[in-house]
Amino acid sequence: MVAMHIDILTLFPDSINAVMSESILGRAQKNDIIRIEPHQIRDYTTNRQMQVDDYPYGGGQGMVMQAQPLHDCWQAVCQDAGYRVHTIYMSAAGRRFTQADAIRLKENYDRFILVCGHYEGVDERFIEECVDEEMSIGDFVLTGGELPAMTIADAVCRLVPGVLADASCFQDESHYSGLLEYPQYSRPAEWQGRKVPDILLSGNHVAIARWRRKEALRRTMLRRPDMLERYQPDKQDRKLLDELRQELAKQEETQA
Ligand SMILES: C[S@@+](CC[C@H](N)C(=O)[O-])C[C@H]1O[C@@H](n2cnc3c(N)ncnc32)[C@H](O)[C@@H]1O
Repeated sequence: MVAMHIDILTLFPDSINAVMSESILGRAQKNDIIRIEPHQIRDYTTNRQMQVDDYPYGGGQGMVMQAQPLHDCWQAVCQDAGYRVHTIYMSAAGRRFTQADAIRLKENYDRFILVCGHYEGVDERFIEECVDEEMSIGDFVLTGGELPAMTIADAVCRLVPGVLADASCFQDESHYSGLLEYPQYSRPAEWQGRKVPDILLSGNHVAIARWRRKEALRRTMLRRPDMLERYQPDKQDRKLLDELRQELAKQEETQA
C-alpha cells in the first residue's frame, strides 16, 4: 500500500498524468510511495453523447457540470477505497489553501479526492452531497480545477516521508515554520560581478545558520509583515529581530 493516494476527478486525465509522472513526484510514484490517480468523469455519463454539462437553471452564460456523472465517478472511487473518502472541490469560491492545509491533509489522510470543475463550475447539489471542503489556490479564476488539484497534490505529496531525500528539505523552506526562506546561492562564488556572501564560504556552520535565520526574518519582515505578525519568535529570533530593526532604522536615517 502507498503512503498517500490522491484521486483526481477530472475531464482531462492526460494533463494530470503528463505533469505528475515527471521529476520527484514521478519517481515517488514509480517507487510506490505515493499514487496520484486521475479518473475520467466522462466515463460515468449515462447519455449517448457522453455529455457532462448542461445549461444553468435561471439562465446566464456558460455551462454547468451535472451532478450525476460527478457523483457516480466519486462513488466508484469510494467503493474502490471501501469507505467514504475525504473530498475536496477545487473552487475559486473556496477557502484559500495554505502550507498549514498541506500539513493537515498529509497528517490526517492517507487517501483523499480532489474534484476539478470546468466551465461555470459544478451543480451545487453534488457539493452538498459529496464534498467535505472547498479550496481555492488564490484570488483569481482559472479555466479548470486541474492546475489547483495538481498544486495541492504536489504540496501534500512532497511532505510524505521518502518523497524528498530528507524532512529538512521541506522543514527549512518558506512557510513551513511561519517564515520565508533565506536567499540561496550555488556555484560559482562570483557571477556577473555579484559575489556570494562571504559567510557562506566560511565553513562556520553556526555562523551560517545564524545568518540564514536572520535573512529569513529580514525577508519575512520586508515582504510579508502579515506573516511576521503571526510568528512566535524564540529568544534568538527576538535578538535577531532587534538587530534587523536597528539596521533598517539606520538605513532609513542615511537615506533621509
Ligand atoms: C471558470 S472556473 C468557474 C468559476 C466560478 N464560476 C466562480 O465564479 O467561482 C472553472 C473551474 O476552475 C476551477 N478553479 C478556477 N479558479 C480556481 C481557483 N482560484 N482555485 C481553485 N479552483 C479554481 C474550479 O474547479 C472551477 O469549477
